[in-house]
Amino acid sequence: MKKIKLLFAVLGFAASAYSQGNNYTQDYTKYQGLALTPPMGWNSWNKFACNVDENLIKQVADAMVSSGMKDAGYTYINIDDCWHGDRDQQGFIHPDPKRFPSGMKALADYIHSKGLKMGIYSDAGSQTCGGRPGSRGYEFQDAQTYASWGIDYLKYDWCNTEGLRGEGAYKTIAAALKRAGRPMVLSICEWGTDKPWTWGSKVGELWRTTGDIYNCFDCIKDNGSWHANGVMKILDMQKGLRQYAGPGHWNDPDMLEVGNGMATNEDRAHFSMWCMIAAPLIAGNDIRNMSAQTAAILKNKEVIAVDQDPMGVQGYQYSVKDSVETWLKPLQGGDWAICFLNRGTKAQKVDFDWKSEVITDTLSKAVLDAQKQVYTLRNLWTMKDAGTTKSPLKGEVAAHDVLMLRLHHKN
Ligand code: GLA
Repeated sequence: MKKIKLLFAVLGFAASAYSQGNNYTQDYTKYQGLALTPPMGWNSWNKFACNVDENLIKQVADAMVSSGMKDAGYTYINIDDCWHGDRDQQGFIHPDPKRFPSGMKALADYIHSKGLKMGIYSDAGSQTCGGRPGSRGYEFQDAQTYASWGIDYLKYDWCNTEGLRGEGAYKTIAAALKRAGRPMVLSICEWGTDKPWTWGSKVGELWRTTGDIYNCFDCIKDNGSWHANGVMKILDMQKGLRQYAGPGHWNDPDMLEVGNGMATNEDRAHFSMWCMIAAPLIAGNDIRNMSAQTAAILKNKEVIAVDQDPMGVQGYQYSVKDSVETWLKPLQGGDWAICFLNRGTKAQKVDFDWKSEVITDTLSKAVLDAQKQVYTLRNLWTMKDAGTTKSPLKGEVAAHDVLMLRLHHKN
């Protein structure tokens, strides 16, 4: 008798759950086919922090085209923190009416009319890092709002997330974006806290691997309760992560500081290394007023091609001698990029005998065999041909600078 009662209880419960119509299954996975090469664009945070408004964003979109950045491959115009106004009584988020009086849909239309894409920013917690409304509890509503505005990219931050776990929180927003029906790149920004490289590729296109970048070559910026890192420090923190990157899912060592105050050679080294590690290339400077040197770095198409190589293999540190690190990145068609990075404060000689050994990348299995074949060399910063691998490379790399070459494999 007891058993029969239990059976009825179970059946009754199941029936009532069914009658509530709870039969929609969430899809917690990302849209397929986005960011097959590392995303390229611009973001407001590094230069403008909370000082964002629609005029700035429109001017940046204009400059993206007129400066040639768009032609070089930069596509996304991403507004970071502090665009927000309040939620209305139904819970819908609105932009700050003083800063964005025309609204986000009009801004997205403007950006799209230039052949560019628009990104926006929110946070998995109750508030953004800048103290604006976060998406916690409003994920599906916010995703729907962004879709109705025509947003193409969402950077989703990790402040004020007490009690949340990274994987679950980012799966929730991924499901919300799926449900909203508009493909958007999801930029996971939880600073590496919950090892996003182990779960991020199913839910988003890129994941921050570290805390925030700072515009110095090799310093640590102490902000009291947290610190930001110079570009070399961030580079060091990418160790052991390359196997997690590939087409559609990238390690994100944070946005570029090129043009934000470092010396030109340091900017060049920073940009080169981000390209060697297949990082997203999100410019963080004022592209309306760039120096010729800054523009030449950001728009160097041959260096960008290393980053954007369709094979999508993140480069690796091959050797270290004194202050010079040698990095390699296998490229499509049997080509390779090689970058000698001088972290020291004195110029260093480079002497590299291509034939001294056959190099095999254990991850991609690509082989650089200068004993069997001749590669032609191209210096990617002087943009000049630089001989072949028949004879050893002899050169010099300035302090805080790089010597970066592409080895072309003739089939
Ligand atoms: C965090 C992120 C930054 C930026 C700020 C905005 O620090 O890591 O990239 O988005 O928040 O407040």
